[in-house]
Amino acid sequence: MRYVDIGGSGLLGSTVALGCMRIASLDKAELVNLLGVAVDAGINLFDHADIYGGGRCEEVFGEAFRSVSVRREDVLLQTKCGIRDGFFDFSKEHILASVNGSLSRLGTDHVDLLLLHRPDALVEPAEVAAAFDELHAAGKVRAFGVSNQHPMQIELLRRHVRQPLVTNQLQLSVAHTGMIDAGINVNMTSPGAFDRDGGVLDYCRLHGITIQAWSVLQYGQIEGTLLDAEQFPELDRALRDTADQLSVTPAAVAVAWILRHPARMQAIVGSTNAARVASLAAASDVELSRPAWYEVYRAAGNRLP
Ligand SMILES: NC(=O)c1ccc[n+]([C@@H]2O[C@H](COP(=O)([O-])OP(=O)(O)OC[C@H]3O[C@@H](n4cnc5c(N)ncnc54)[C@H](OP(=O)(O)O)[C@@H]3O)[C@@H](O)[C@H]2O)c1
Repeated sequence: MRYVDIGGSGLLGSTVALGCMRIASLDKAELVNLLGVAVDAGINLFDHADIYGGGRCEEVFGEAFRSVSVRREDVLLQTKCGIRDGFFDFSKEHILASVNGSLSRLGTDHVDLLLLHRPDALVEPAEVAAAFDELHAAGKVRAFGVSNQHPMQIELLRRHVRQPLVTNQLQLSVAHTGMIDAGINVNMTSPGAFDRDGGVLDYCRLHGITIQAWSVLQYGQIEGTLLDAEQFPELDRALRDTADQLSVTPAAVAVAWILRHPARMQAIVGSTNAARVASLAAASDVELSRPAWYEVYRAAGNRLP
């Protein structure tokens, strides 16, 4: 397993991290096994949000974590706040209340990273700054970041927030490549040229912000996994061929494809299956060649200009 210094914070996070959005479906023994297998594979970052399972995911994690043979200080617990029922809320009051709820459910006195989950149109950056100051001073949060944010939204926050914003968690898979397409198709009239994110990939690289890729095996937002999907026969073939050559699974190749990018991202994998998580962790030690990376990209239906 390789590790990355997340946004220069000094927090070393595994390049393959475990997303905990779906773990509420597991019983305690299954979850303890999943977490143990993840830790044994070198995974040290666990991604949460206050809303996953309506709080249940943090709660079952907190209960199971005590039975896993790993010390709290040897893992990074990350959570997110700001999504509420029918609206987004980056108010100071909500951020503080959300973190207190997460700490209590996770059974810990601090989280290592706190991310603002989705942009709040009504954000008051000075309020976010005040909340972050209070959480940092109280030792409840070590480092801060955002998720699904545009460069200008991050710039606005950076005017007020005193702590560095060390990560931006964004949707990225080989079948969801907008942030890469736009950079390849500059000034072309092809659909890939469409800039949906304000150049967020290069912005994060310029500012040393670590991108954490979410839904690394999905296409669309809720459509399903890109593995064996009838829409992607060529991708399926390319992933299988590369997997055979590298002696890993096709899913691990899809993750290795993300990790091959020189932005040095983290991939948040969301499987609840211990064997799958172990095989996905192997992606961290696989280096795709430049031709293989482009072949997988093209096999997903992306065109080069
Ligand atoms: N910031 C955001 O807005 C945002 C949004 C969404 C997610 N996230 C984070 O990203 C994490 C990952 O998201 P995700 O769960 O959508 O990621 P994912 O890793 O792309 O998908 C995991 C899902 O794919 C299924 N799957 C089917 N075949 C698989 C295979 N061969 N290998 C692995 N998985 C397979 C898994 O089922 P099994 O469980 O049966 O293996 C699971 O339901 C979440 O847990 C959350 O922490 C963040």
